[in-house]
Amino acid sequence: MCGIFGYVGPRTDGATIVLAGLKQLEYRGYDSWGVAVASPDKIVVKKKTGKIGEANVKDMPHSSFAFGHTRWATHGGVSEVNAHPHLDCTGTIAIIHNGILENYEVLKQKLLTKNHRFVSQTDTEVAVHLIEEYAKRMLFSKAVQQAFNDMEGLNAFIAMNRNNNQFVAVRSGSPLVVGFGNGENFLASDAAALLPYTRQVHFLEDDEMALVSAAGVMMFNARTGVRIKPQKQTLTWSVAEVEKGSYPFFMLKEIHEQPGVMADIAADNAEHAVKLAGIIRQSHGAYMVGCGTAAYACLAGSYLFSKIARRHVNWAIGSEFGYQLDFLTDKSLILALSQSGETMDLLDSVRKSKEKKAKIAALVNVLGSSLWRIADYTLVIGAGPEKGVASTKAFIGKLAHLTLLAYALDGRIREGQKVVTMAVKSAKTVLGEPTVSHIQKLAKKIKKARHVYVIGRGLSYPAALEIALKIKEISYIHAEGLAAGELKHGPLALVEKGTPCIALLPDDETYGANLAGAMEMKARGGYIIGISHKPHEVFDYYVPIADAREATIIPMVIAGQLLAYYLTIARGFDPDKPRNLAKSVTVK
Ligand code: AGP
Repeated sequence: MCGIFGYVGPRTDGATIVLAGLKQLEYRGYDSWGVAVASPDKIVVKKKTGKIGEANVKDMPHSSFAFGHTRWATHGGVSEVNAHPHLDCTGTIAIIHNGILENYEVLKQKLLTKNHRFVSQTDTEVAVHLIEEYAKRMLFSKAVQQAFNDMEGLNAFIAMNRNNNQFVAVRSGSPLVVGFGNGENFLASDAAALLPYTRQVHFLEDDEMALVSAAGVMMFNARTGVRIKPQKQTLTWSVAEVEKGSYPFFMLKEIHEQPGVMADIAADNAEHAVKLAGIIRQSHGAYMVGCGTAAYACLAGSYLFSKIARRHVNWAIGSEFGYQLDFLTDKSLILALSQSGETMDLLDSVRKSKEKKAKIAALVNVLGSSLWRIADYTLVIGAGPEKGVASTKAFIGKLAHLTLLAYALDGRIREGQKVVTMAVKSAKTVLGEPTVSHIQKLAKKIKKARHVYVIGRGLSYPAALEIALKIKEISYIHAEGLAAGELKHGPLALVEKGTPCIALLPDDETYGANLAGAMEMKARGGYIIGISHKPHEVFDYYVPIADAREATIIPMVIAGQLLAYYLTIARGFDPDKPRNLAKSVTVK
């Protein structure tokens, strides 16, 4: 997902303010960046491929009207010319954009007949020339509105008009937030980036348009032109929450925040869990849907609901559910799980479900996100800003909520709070000494492995999938999560002498059968890493986990997160910004 940041006000270091804002948004993943400032006679733009790193914009003119963008390439390759902002023919209008302009070829052909000149391969550049064309015969804000209505697809963009120091921002799909300062105003794609300047924000709804200048903010419906009143909200996050603090990487900080996240969830969410449990109970068919790590939380949820509440709640991968939802009715419930609330694969399936009149409940971490807005009922995960691309505390937060929900469904919410509290205690042990050093040592031992296998059964099967995902997405070691029972149906052929095989062995009904799986791999030369409540002679390496009943998978996954993190460090990679990946995948 790209990053957007804009400033207009009395300060003249606009370019520096914008670049600092973009650095707050780096965690979203990008491959180029750019900043534009309004100078007395034109708009000056600086664009670069690669990371912002130590770059600066001190070579740009002083300006009190500036915006910038971090781009994750969709239309057009990674190049300076394709980076945003893009200018019109006159150099007095600039635009930055998140999303995909689906009808850009048709629009571009029309603009070419009016002699507009294009320099990039992007769809975004079409938008700025479209605005330029309309601005020849109408107010700038009307020109933006008209251009927006010509566009197809989900887009958020900001247009800068040098002539009147006013941004015109419009949103459909990708998030945009207005920040209200004192004699100055801001725009950003993520509210966390506004914290150093203001806590007063308005999350733009789809089809809302904001005219933002130093003097104030006016809002309109971009489809009808009707004036609307901003719904100001106050952000409660602390700046510390969005900084690394004493940690070398956001991911390690977020891993260590997990006991606190779970404790808060257990303490503050009883009534929410009871209410959502009631909604699930009334539904005729409930389906959990999510992508990647969130999908594994959905799978874990299906085991929790069955085991604790004897309730069948199905699950599906977000990018697949759209092909299997024809049976939905107005009595169906979709429980959509997402950290960012912006994952296009998930939003697509949710929108298709809404067309079937299904009710949407969302378990989402980002306030004001697209999923947060389109759901009929929203439960915020409450993990705080998660900046590492690899999701950790948001995932554990989902598991804590789902555990509470399963117990609430069975009318035993207090028991659920007790179980989550057991998981908090067990997690603290995993995150303390000697376990952390023990896991670091294991990472050094297996860092040269080409393949790692993780087996689980029952509730520990989704835990195995999630641990494998953590390992592969940040350390780049191929890792595969397996249902232990499946080993002998094929994957066992892959186990060779010394292959690291992680066996998740919680103290439940799966213990014996899982141990058999570990022995099958040991017999083929596998290096067995046992994550369990007690040691066993079959283990070549043992990681102790204190039992937390059905929530034991939480400390197990945390041990797996630490292993993935330390493997990544041992292999010299950046755990916060893994190659090829973005924090939120807002394209299909
Ligand atoms: C998780 O570590 C991955 N980065 C990825 O699978 C992620 O969980 C997935 O893209 C879904 O993101 P969401 O939770 O923001 O919807």
